[in-house]
Amino acid sequence: MSAVTAARYSAVAITLHWLIAVLLIGNIGLAWYFNTLTGLERVAPTQLHKSIGITVLLLSLLRLAWRLAVKPPPLPAGTPAWERRVAGATHLLFYVVMLGLPLTGWFMVSASPLIHAFPIKLYGLVEWPAIGPLTTLPHDQMHATHEAFETAHGLLAKLSYGLIVLHVGAALMHQFVRRDVIVPRMVPFLRRPA
Ligand code: HEM
Repeated sequence: MSAVTAARYSAVAITLHWLIAVLLIGNIGLAWYFNTLTGLERVAPTQLHKSIGITVLLLSLLRLAWRLAVKPPPLPAGTPAWERRVAGATHLLFYVVMLGLPLTGWFMVSASPLIHAFPIKLYGLVEWPAIGPLTTLPHDQMHATHEAFETAHGLLAKLSYGLIVLHVGAALMHQFVRRDVIVPRMVPFLRRPA
């Protein structure tokens, strides 16, 4: 193994990357699914969506702490400045999405009279608190607050679609067109293409 291919992300960073990727994309799929449902049918998948979302929030906080504590491996020396900037901006925006999507979801459901009938219960087991002050707002303010967070949640979801397309597209380009060391840094069993 050359010195360049050895410069991988840490095992913790790799585990958190793939765990969050699967949960976040799975939660988008779940939201697309429950959006096709109406009435009581919608409750169970929406409750699961909230549990997965809070899990993503907790894992993302851990990941952010790890990212700040342990430096990622440097990009290859010849990487042009514009690519470094685009990669940096994409990764930063991913943190905005990974934290912002669950937070806006949590705020949105807290500012709803339904929170009393359907409290957030992680995987049906552990109660997760609502944001106290939002649960007691006067009706009009609660409605407006709910709408604002619902809009933010939807916009962040759209941002996540764009980022996922950009990120996966860049990974495919690195692996199959440039055939460089970038993807194996995050996929432990992958070697640099010959
Ligand atoms: C990884 C985290 C999350 C992702 C990727 C995600 C994604 C989505 C998406 C794509 C939608 C559909 C938006 C639209 O139709 O425009 C949605 C809706 C929704 N999300 Fe999330 N979400 C996350 C976390 C959460 C959390 C933590 C909660 C609550 C605790 C939550 C509650 C909801 C609810 C209630 C809706 C339905 C809103 C409606 O009735 O239209 N989400 N989410």
